[in-house]
Amino acid sequence: MKGAFVTFEGGDGAGKSTQARRLAVTLRAKGRTVTLTREPGGSPWAERLRAALLSEHGAELSPAEQALLFAAARADHVDTLIAPALAAGHVVICDRFADSTEAYQGAAGVSAARLATLGALVVGDTVPDLTIVLDCPADIGHVRTARRGGADPFDRAETQIRERRRQAFLAIAAREPGRCAVVDATQPADIVADRIWRIASERLALLQAA
Ligand code: TYD
Repeated sequence: MKGAFVTFEGGDGAGKSTQARRLAVTLRAKGRTVTLTREPGGSPWAERLRAALLSEHGAELSPAEQALLFAAARADHVDTLIAPALAAGHVVICDRFADSTEAYQGAAGVSAARLATLGALVVGDTVPDLTIVLDCPADIGHVRTARRGGADPFDRAETQIRERRRQAFLAIAAREPGRCAVVDATQPADIVADRIWRIASERLALLQAA
């Protein structure tokens, strides 16, 4: 079987982690080997950078410095986990990837040109085959993260910034329709999971031999 790289993107509280897990369960039940991972993090060095970025001290860095550290974490994650798993024929499902840097650090003021340079440097050929953008209004996501507790500094942004992130994800999806699919995340989780499975099985050769 050929490997496939699927990423989940969207604002805080859109349900990415739940849906990434559900897609992994479905694929494993159908016999695929799945590597389920997340960003920031996913490899030992990237997890160290995650701890720094999501700590209160992370908020002391400028958005450009944050973008560099998210990118450094991603470089290690791609080299040590994602690329080898894809080469071994796994389906790699990643909860957030490079689009999060474009949307979050872009919404915080880092220029599109700088972020594009950084993206090209770090992602290289490891571009996702499919990106599910879970879309929900900024205030709904906010209520969900508040209910869950343990918010990181990025979760505490004001509505205007959250809405800018949402529009950034929608702009990425509009720019790259072949890679991205927008899914309404305000629907019940079962309906969202069905929709994601339909998109993934239509777009990717997940169950046929390579
Ligand atoms: P995550 O663990 O996905 O948190 P959540 O479950 O709340 O979505 O990500 C942690 C935070 O880091 C999240 O608020 C988004 C932010 N982030 C960026 O700002 N840039 C990035 O490149 C990535 C990967 C995450």
